[in-house]
Amino acid sequence: MYTTKDLPKITTHVLQEMKLKGEKIAMLTGYDYSMARLLDEAGIDVILVGDSASNVMAGNATTLPITLDQMIYHASSVMRGVKRALVVVDLPFGTYQGNSKEALNSAIRIMKESGANAIKLEGGKEIVESIDRILSAGIPVLGHLGLTPQSINKFGTYVVRATEEKEAAKLVDDAKILEKSGCFGIVLEKIPASLATQVTKVVKIPTIGIGAGHEVDGQVLVLHDMLGINQEFSPRFLRRYHNLHDEIIKAFLAYIHDVKTVNFPSNKEQY
Ligand code: KIV
Repeated sequence: MYTTKDLPKITTHVLQEMKLKGEKIAMLTGYDYSMARLLDEAGIDVILVGDSASNVMAGNATTLPITLDQMIYHASSVMRGVKRALVVVDLPFGTYQGNSKEALNSAIRIMKESGANAIKLEGGKEIVESIDRILSAGIPVLGHLGLTPQSINKFGTYVVRATEEKEAAKLVDDAKILEKSGCFGIVLEKIPASLATQVTKVVKIPTIGIGAGHEVDGQVLVLHDMLGINQEFSPRFLRRYHNLHDEIIKAFLAYIHDVKTVNFPSNKEQY
């Protein structure tokens, strides 16, 4: 069987080397121990404990309700399943915007209580004070530009971002600011592929795209979407690698049938 035991532990420095070598970075979200073990065994480079947990794990319509305690719970579960991958955790909405001391305290809580390797926050120039303070405590930071779901109430929709020249120029400036402050990488979400390519050339740190074309340094998808557990969400950028929704329903139906018809347990499945 494919094994990752001889592959090196992924650090932020390894990601930087991967960009230099032109080796693509594979990142997926993860929220629990069992899936984290599978992701790590398969050799994923980065696991993002995304605040998309608010949607796919808790059933909320947006990422806004998830709390710092809940993110720490998910991150700790993931950490117990990981040997090799780099684990990055989202700072949830309301724990870093507008107050850099609170941002630092939130980041420290995540690192101390979950044992994760890095944190991610959404935004550019407007959150740079928080980024500076977190970095000065030795905590690696991943930036996130383009569609930033924590600002859904400002944007009003989840459509492609930065299609207008002014917003695209701000995004390039923000990417340079994040690089200058010391972020080890930037997630680029749902922006034109040509803009993502431009940013990837302009900055020396790795860019990780989701709906940002293939000329970025790596890709990320939400686990439940790429496994086809979630059937309602179908943006153009999403490739489904499995149809787990149908597979799981099939298994549940078979179980229900066996219980109702007393086909389970059999004589061999009892004491
Ligand atoms: O929370 C999340 O899953 C994310 C990815 C979509 C990048 O931020």
